[in-house]
Order: sequence, then C-alpha cells, then structure tokens
Amino acid sequence: MSTTETHTTTFSARLDLQWTASIRPGLLHAHPDDLPSLLGPRDWSSRRLPIIDEHVHAIYGEQIRALLARYGIDHPDPLVLPGGESAKTADTVERIHRYMETHGVPRFAEPLLVWGGGVAHDVAGYAAATYRRGVPYITFATTLVSAIDAMFALKVAINSQYKNRVGSYHPPATAYADPAFFSTLDRGQILDGTGEILKIAIALDGGLFPVLEQHGPRAVAEHFQGRDPATLAILHRSVSAMGEELSNNPFEHDPQRASYAGHGISPGMEPEVSHGVAVALDLLVTTMIAWRRGAVATPYRDRIVRLAHALGLPLWHPVLERPQVLFDALIDTARHRGGRQRIPAPVHEPGRVRYLDGIDLAELHRALNDLHHAASHDRARRTQWTSTTGE
Ligand SMILES: NC(=O)c1ccc[n+]([C@@H]2O[C@H](COP(=O)([O-])OP(=O)(O)OC[C@H]3O[C@@H](n4cnc5c(N)ncnc54)[C@H](O)[C@@H]3O)[C@@H](O)[C@H]2O)c1
Repeated sequence: MSTTETHTTTFSARLDLQWTASIRPGLLHAHPDDLPSLLGPRDWSSRRLPIIDEHVHAIYGEQIRALLARYGIDHPDPLVLPGGESAKTADTVERIHRYMETHGVPRFAEPLLVWGGGVAHDVAGYAAATYRRGVPYITFATTLVSAIDAMFALKVAINSQYKNRVGSYHPPATAYADPAFFSTLDRGQILDGTGEILKIAIALDGGLFPVLEQHGPRAVAEHFQGRDPATLAILHRSVSAMGEELSNNPFEHDPQRASYAGHGISPGMEPEVSHGVAVALDLLVTTMIAWRRGAVATPYRDRIVRLAHALGLPLWHPVLERPQVLFDALIDTARHRGGRQRIPAPVHEPGRVRYLDGIDLAELHRALNDLHHAASHDRARRTQWTSTTGE
C-alpha cells in the first residue's frame, strides 16, 4: 500500500555566541602575570599560528616575537600577508589554509593570532571560518578602522567580483587593540577611522557626540596616542556602541540597522575617496536630506557640519559633482536592503536615527547643493551658514 503522507521533522538549535573586544594600551609589553589570557586560555595548547600584516611585521615584528616568547608560545615562522583591499582574495585564504595544513592545526585550542587591520581580520577570519568548518582565532587590531569596526566583527569576508561578496559569520575568540599601533598610520588612515567614529556618534551613541566635539580634534591630531580619559572614552564608547548594535542583530536579519548610516551612497564615492571619508561625506549629504525634510533642526545640522570639519574630515569632494553615480549607488544599496532604501539619517539629537525612503535624484541633487553651500561657507570660515530656503 502506498501513502502520500509527508513526514516532517523540525530541527532546532540555539547558537550561543559570546566574545570580547578590548582596547588595551601597552599590549606589546604585556606579561602573562598581568594578562594571562591575552593569547588565549592558559589551559589551551601552548602552540599558536601567528599571521601578521606585512607592514605591521616590518615595524612591530620583533616586539610581537618577544611577546610570544614571554608567553612561552610555541609557534612556527609567522605567515606574513599583504594588507590592502587587493589582498582580500581567495588566493590569500588558500595561503592561510596551506599554512594551517602544513602545521596541522586541530579543530580546537590552537587559535590563529592575527595582527593587522580590517583586511587581516576579514581574510584570516574567513580562512578560520572555513578551515575544518571553523577554528578559533584572536584578532589584534593595528588600525583605527579595525579597532572600532572590524576586530570584533562577527561577519568576515573576502572580495570576489564585488567587495565582501563571499563570507561567513565567525567572530574572533577575542579581540584586542592597542592605540600605540596607530602612531605609525598615516593621516588618511586615521581619518578613515574617524569617519566611522563620527557615524557612531550621530547614529548610535549620542553621548559620544559632545565628547568628540570637545576632545575629538586633539585625539585625531595625536593619532589617539593620549592615554587621557577622553581619548580612551572615544575608543571605548565606539566599541561598546558597535557591540550593542551587533548583539541586537548579529546576523543582520533586520535590514534596518543604525550602523548602516553613512553607507547608502558612499559606495559610489569609492575608490576615489577612501571608505571612512566617504562614510563621513555620505553622513553630511544625508544630514542635508533630513534637514530639508524637517527631521533635523538647523542648529543640529550645523553642529554635525562643524564637528566633521573640526575632526579634519572634508566637507566636499569632486566625486559629489556626479549625482547620477551616487544615485546609482543608492539604488544598489536599496537592492541589498530588500528593495527599500532604509537610509539611517540623523533626527532631533545625536545618537538617534530615522530611516528614510523615497529619496529621488532631485532630492539628492538638492542635498548636494546644500552641502556645497555649507562647504563654501566653511571655506570662508563661517560655519553658521544661512539656508537657501531662508530658514
Ligand atoms: N568585518 C567587518 O565587519 C569589517 C568592518 C570594518 C571594516 N572591514 C574591512 O576592513 C578593511 C579596511 O580596514 P583597514 O583600513 O584596517 O585596512 P588594512 O587592513 O588594509 O590596513 C590598511 C593599511 O595599513 C597597513 N597597516 C596596518 N596596521 C598598520 C600600522 N599599525 N602601522 C602602519 N601600517 C599599518 C596595512 O598593511 C595596510 O597597508 C576593509 O576591507 C573593510 O571591508 C571589515
């Protein structure tokens, strides 16, 4: 006798993930007596596989080796990898897999130690996610971008035809950043991280905004080398705000994310403008849209413009003279967000956003004109500018 009855079994599993990210000045001089679990739990194997960005290796390689020796770590020669976007490839992942295979990395207890910026985190994190379907890794962030945005990221990715198109969700076992590394970054790299910090102050942590207004310009000028409470607060608050945002929506099932602020039209500015600076320009354009729609009052709009300027971020760039290219980027962004623009834009006060939809080319054009106007006034050293609507 035959039957057409369907037998269905439902599978259900809870994924319980927890990891930490720390800003830790003096990391390279750490000692196991003070910070025993820096390189992973002491009851894990004493072997580790170090993976180091090539610039970091050239500048800090000896100190990293000395740190590993102080911790009694048994390790092969570090795998030294290039940084930069062009290194985020399947070939680099393959090199890391071969390194792990050569040294017989087991499934557990021998984490990779990854030293570098966001590229090192992404590429080594993706290699770790896919080797034996997931081995542990610890990220040591050496750029400002990585410290406040990448080092604790759950998502890791490499570029294929498009940026970050191939990836996985695999957080580091733990992540650390020592601002001392930022002393050897160039100013453009510091500004990239600063653009993301501005985003956090506008969209996630309103309390960070006045701290940035008061101390941000100095912290940026000093490459965040000060160990004063304000400089460290900017870094700590940024990481905490991102941590909370990520924990509430870890797998990004909700496409409405405040941390997407500054990421709507900015892809249309890259690579002519570096990522973090493009994010800042995007935030300024979005601010103008929100102001025209009446969601942002003129004083707050002006505070945002003044803060971006005070932090050393540009208020204008020639890429903004191509509204159609930026609008195409917005269309692509909307496609990625389930067909709606959902642009997080400032509203009322720092730390809160409203999601905008229905931005058309004409509205974008007007916002660009408004920003151009603000930037021109800024050049004339007058940041209190009068609106073209007579407000
Ligand atoms: N996974 C995520 O959620 C996430 C979040 C933010 C950014 N990212 C990714 O991070 C990447 C950008 O990160 P990045 O800006 O750190 O880039 P990066 O890692 O390429 O570093 C930039 C350059 O700085 C060099 N460098 C690194 N540390 C240095 C130091 N202390 N001194 C001198 N030079 C140093 C590197 O060799 C490289 O040439 C992008 O690919 C982006 O997609 C990922």
